Amino acid sequence: MNQKLLLIVSGSIAAYKALELARLARKDGFAVTGLLTDAGARFVTPNALAAITGTRVFGDLWSLEDETHSGHIRLARDHDLIVVAPASADLIAKMALGLADDLASTVLLATTRPILLGPAMNPTMWMHPATQAHIATLRTRGVTIVGPAEGEMAEPESGPGRLVEPPALLAAIRAALASGPLAGRHALVTSGPTHEAIDPVRYIANRSSGRQGHAIAAALAALGARVTLVAGPVQIPDPPGMTVRRVESARDMLAACEAALPADIAVCAAAVADWRPVQDLGRKIKKVPGEAPPPLALTENPDILATLAKVGPQRPTLVVGFAAETHEVVPHAQAKRARKGCDWIVANDVSGDVMGGAENAVHIVTADAVEDWPRMTKDDVARRLAARIAAVFA
Ligand code: C5P
Repeated sequence: MNQKLLLIVSGSIAAYKALELARLARKDGFAVTGLLTDAGARFVTPNALAAITGTRVFGDLWSLEDETHSGHIRLARDHDLIVVAPASADLIAKMALGLADDLASTVLLATTRPILLGPAMNPTMWMHPATQAHIATLRTRGVTIVGPAEGEMAEPESGPGRLVEPPALLAAIRAALASGPLAGRHALVTSGPTHEAIDPVRYIANRSSGRQGHAIAAALAALGARVTLVAGPVQIPDPPGMTVRRVESARDMLAACEAALPADIAVCAAAVADWRPVQDLGRKIKKVPGEAPPPLALTENPDILATLAKVGPQRPTLVVGFAAETHEVVPHAQAKRARKGCDWIVANDVSGDVMGGAENAVHIVTADAVEDWPRMTKDDVARRLAARIAAVFA
C-alpha cells in the first residue's frame, strides 16, 4: 500500500516548488492529496496541483458535498503524514495558537498524524520573535520543522526564509515516515562544540564541526528512530526529518537535553567545553593601555553525559559517550566509561585530522569488550553505530 501524504500549500511565492515536491513524492511511490489555502491558491492553481497529484484538490471548509461526510476530519485522519510546504508565517501562527478558521488550519488542529512543516517567508518575518516563538511551540508538540534554507529571496534580500528544495523535503518526508528497527524509539543526540561567553562579544570554543554527531543523528533517523538533535554552534545544515535544538553553552545544552527526555537512546557526541568563565560580565571587557590582561577564572561545566547516564526513571536504556584522546586511547576510554556511568564509549584518536575531518577511526568500549573499527568515513561510523544500537533494541 502506498503511503499517503496530505500536502497543504499555503501562501508564499515558494508555492510553485510544492508542485515539484508533489511530482517527486508521487514518483517515489507516495499517494499525494493536495490542499490549498486561499492564499496558496493565488500562487498555484487547483488545476495544476490536481494534474500533478492525479486526484482532486481540497480547499473549502464549507464544501457541502465534502462536509456531509465530515471531510475535514477524514482529511485529518486518512493520511500517514501531513506536509505543509510552503508553510507561511500566518499558517504557522494559526497552528501554534490552535486556530481553525479555514480547511487547512482545521485539518491541522483535528489531526493526530505526524506533521512536517517547510517554512517559507521573508527573513525578517522568519526572525520575528513571534514566528520564532510559534516555531518553538510547534517543535515541543513534535512537529518536524524542515528549514528554512538561507539564500536569495524573491525580493532583493537574502537570509533564512527560503523553502527547502523539494528533493531535501522529500528526504525529510521519508525520514519522518521511516519504518525500521528503531521505529517508535526516541534518540537524543548531542553534537558540535559549545560556546562559553567571556563577555557579550568573546567566547571560548573548540574545533568540533558537529559532523560526526549530525551523521549519527541522521543514521538513527534512517533506522526509524524519532531523533532530537541538540546542536551547539555549527556551520553545517540541520539534518532533515528530526527535531533540532540549537544551543550555545553547555548549560543550555544540558537544559535542552533534559527537556527532550524521556529517550530510549542518548548519544553524546558533542565536544562540550569542560570549563566556562566564572562569570559572563554582561558587558565587554575593555582593553586598558598599559594594564595587564584580565585574569580568566574558569569553573567546571555540568557533565551532560554523566547527568543523562545517572540511574533514575528518566535514564535512557542505552547511553553512549565519546572520548577524544591523543594517547592510550582505549584505557582512557575504559576509565571514562566507568567514571561517567554510560553504557558504551566510542573512543577516537584525535591526534591526527579527525577534528573537522571527514574520517574517523574508533573503538567501541562496552562493559565487557572493545571493538576496533577500521578507519572509515564519519557517515560510515554513524551508520555502523546506529546499526549496533538497533541490535540492542531488536
Ligand atoms: O570528559 P570528556 O569531555 O573527555 O568526555 C567526553 C564525553 O562526555 C563526550 O561524550 C561528551 O559529549 C561528554 N561530555 C558531556 N558534558 C561535558 C563534557 C563532556 O556530555 N561537560
